[in-house]
Amino acid sequence: MPHKIIGGNHENGMESFLVSIHNYNWFNTWSTAHGSISWRWLVKVFITGIAGFIGFHTANHYHSKGWEVTGIDNFNDYYDPKLKKDRADMLEKLGIRVYPVSLEQVQLGMSMFESVPDLVIHLAASAGIRHSLANPLESIRNNIIGTQKLINHCELLGVKNVIYASTSAVMNGNSLPWNEHDPIGVQVSPYGYTKQCNESQFAVSKINNTVGLRFFTVYGPWGRPDMALFDFTDKIVKGKPITIFNNGDMKRDFTYITDIVRGIWIVSQNMTERDIYCIGNGKQVELMDFVTEIERNIGNGKAEYDFQPMHPADAKETWSDTSKLEKLGYRSDTDVPEGVASFVNWYKNYYHV
Ligand SMILES: NC(=O)c1ccc[n+]([C@@H]2O[C@H](COP(=O)([O-])OP(=O)(O)OC[C@H]3O[C@@H](n4cnc5c(N)ncnc54)[C@H](O)[C@@H]3O)[C@@H](O)[C@H]2O)c1
Repeated sequence: MPHKIIGGNHENGMESFLVSIHNYNWFNTWSTAHGSISWRWLVKVFITGIAGFIGFHTANHYHSKGWEVTGIDNFNDYYDPKLKKDRADMLEKLGIRVYPVSLEQVQLGMSMFESVPDLVIHLAASAGIRHSLANPLESIRNNIIGTQKLINHCELLGVKNVIYASTSAVMNGNSLPWNEHDPIGVQVSPYGYTKQCNESQFAVSKINNTVGLRFFTVYGPWGRPDMALFDFTDKIVKGKPITIFNNGDMKRDFTYITDIVRGIWIVSQNMTERDIYCIGNGKQVELMDFVTEIERNIGNGKAEYDFQPMHPADAKETWSDTSKLEKLGYRSDTDVPEGVASFVNWYKNYYHV
């Protein structure tokens, strides 16, 4: 039976406050401030990877709904940490606390929470699929060990609700479109198997309600520099060639960030014991049509292409079947032309081009 998160963990707040939080100089700031605000009566969400692309937008959304939002991020340099810092600064201006903590380094007994949150949204990860091929240990450390540390803390402190990021990649190899009933597919990257492992880690955890979300290629303003939209835009603006794998013969289900955040929100209003949902746009877009849309919005003419064979960590096509999530009221309503225009607009403003 799904239930909504409607109240705070009032009775647990002080308990977790007493769990030692040391080594972080932000603790004093909070411990002197906590008495003067009515934090115990707010609904609280704790977000890992809060300075990341999806974490940043998710934090903004929960804040706009009146939730108390805090989170951690290790600000690693997989991509430009300035982008993460700028996102975190914007969150801090809203009163959202962002702590520089690395999940896999947190010791049990040292709480990573200020007080027990009503909901944890776990987004921290090494998220680069291609990068993971050359850096499997990094993926294992951040995605598997980091996730287990989080699970251990949630169990210890009695966190009841966790939403965590999985990926469409776990269904790789199944016939399209992919949905939650497909068997786990054949992993072609360490990233894929770490996310597959995350689903098992939560399945055997003692946390009451855990929901995994299999995201399909998320894009939008404040996006990731390692992903196609950002990378192509950046290179086209700078007059550099863009690398196109498999001669451009690829299709993706591109999901706009506000649809993803709305999906997370809807799921948090309908938490169940153990569940998995696909979140996508539900449409396939040819890679070269996506490129054309970027070129059109930048307005510099055609890009120079560097065609390369298929990348071993890539899937040729992705496509989501979101009918399960639609039963909860989800609808993806931003398509690629609108979404790409909004990203390019953000890019031009952010980099003053
Ligand atoms: N963006 C997509 O298209 C997509 C698709 C499928 C799944 N996902 C998943 O969604 C989640 C968010 O992705 P994103 O696109 O926002 O990526 P992102 O890299 O922008 O965000 C992840 C954040 O986690 C932080 N982080 C990494 N390891 C950490 C650790 N050990 N401790 C603390 N912080 C750590 C990073 O510094 C980063 O800011 C990830 O789990 C990713 O695997 C994303």
